[in-house]
Amino acid sequence: MKKNAPIRRGKPSRGHPPVAQERAVDVRLGRIVRLLMEHATVVVSGTKIAREISSNRSEVWRLIQQLRGLGVDVAGHPATGYQLKSVPDLLLPDILVPLLRGTIFDAHLHHFYKIGSTNTAAMAAAAAGIAEGSVFLAEEQTAGRGRGSNSWESARSAGIYCSVVLRPPLPPSEVLVLALAAGLAVRAAIAQVDSRVNTDLKWPNDVLIEGKKVCGILTEMNSEATQVRYVVVGIGINVNQANFPKELEGEAISLRLATGSEWSRVQLTAALLKSLDREYRNLLENPDAHDSILRRFQERSSSVRGRSVHVDENGGFEGVTEGLDSRGFLQVRTVQGVRRVLSGPVRPK
Ligand code: BTN
Repeated sequence: MKKNAPIRRGKPSRGHPPVAQERAVDVRLGRIVRLLMEHATVVVSGTKIAREISSNRSEVWRLIQQLRGLGVDVAGHPATGYQLKSVPDLLLPDILVPLLRGTIFDAHLHHFYKIGSTNTAAMAAAAAGIAEGSVFLAEEQTAGRGRGSNSWESARSAGIYCSVVLRPPLPPSEVLVLALAAGLAVRAAIAQVDSRVNTDLKWPNDVLIEGKKVCGILTEMNSEATQVRYVVVGIGINVNQANFPKELEGEAISLRLATGSEWSRVQLTAALLKSLDREYRNLLENPDAHDSILRRFQERSSSVRGRSVHVDENGGFEGVTEGLDSRGFLQVRTVQGVRRVLSGPVRPK
C-alpha cells in the first residue's frame, strides 16, 4: 500500500452494477422501512408487511433480521408484529428528499443497501442519459473505488458513500476546480454539523483530520475536447467507524474517532449535498467563483505551500509546494524549477 494513500487498499475488484436479485432485496428492505416509518406509532403485523411486499411472513422475518444487521432498531417478532423504535440513520430518499428541497439533488435519489461502487453505477447511468443532480447512495460498497488503482474501504452503514451526476456546461479543464470545490463542500458540511472539528484539505481531493484521511473524492468525467458531457463526483466519508482494517490504521480516521461520539449520517449527507449544491451553482453562475475556489482551497490547506513533498508521478520527483496555478494544479519547486503536478499522489518527504 502506498504511504500517502489512506483508505486505499490494493487493487479494486471491478465495480459491477448490483445484480437484479440484490436490487430486489434492496427494494423490499426499503419498502419495509417506509411502511414502518409511516406507522411509527403502531405495531405492524408480519402479514400486513408480507402483503405489502408480495411475500410471506418468514421472508419478512428474514428481511427484518437483515435490517437489524444494518442497525435499524426494529422491535418485535413474527408473532407480535413489528415496530420501529427510532428513525433509522439510513440514507433513504424518503428521509433525505425533504431535507434537500430547493437543491439540484432533491429529485433523483437512488439508495442501495449493497452495491459494487456508487461511482460505477452513476457513470453507467450518466452514460445512459440519467438527469443532472441524480444521486447514488449506498449503505455498503463491495468494490468501492479510490483514485488511481486503489480501492475504498466501504464498511456497512459506517460511512457515507455518495456519487452525484453533474452535467456542467464547462470545458474539461474546469473539472479540476469543480473537484476542489467538492473538497470545500465536504469541509463546510462537517463544520456545519460540528464546528469544533478541524479539517485540513490535501490537494487534490483529500480531507484530513489530525493528518489522517476522513474523506476521499473520486471525480470522473466523460467529455468532448472542449465540452464536458457529464461528471460524477464520488465522495466517501468515514463517519462512524470505530476502527479500521490493520493496513489503514494510522492513516484513516472517522468523525466518530475524532470527536468521540456517533454522527448522524443523514444529517451529514444532507449538509454535504446542500453545500455541494451551493458550490456547484456558484461555479456555474458566478464569474469570480473559479478564483474564489482556488483561494479558499489554499487558505484551508496546510500543505499546498511550503511543504517538502515527494510526487509519485513521471518517475517521481521532490520539492517544496508552491501553491496552486491558475487552473488548480499544484506547483512544486524542484531543483530544476517549478513543476506542475498533474495528479500525484503527493506525500510528505
Ligand atoms: C480516494 O481518496 O482515493 C477517493 C475515494 C472515493 C471513494 C468514494 S465512495 C463513493 C464513491 N464510490 C466509489 O467507488 N468511490 C467513491
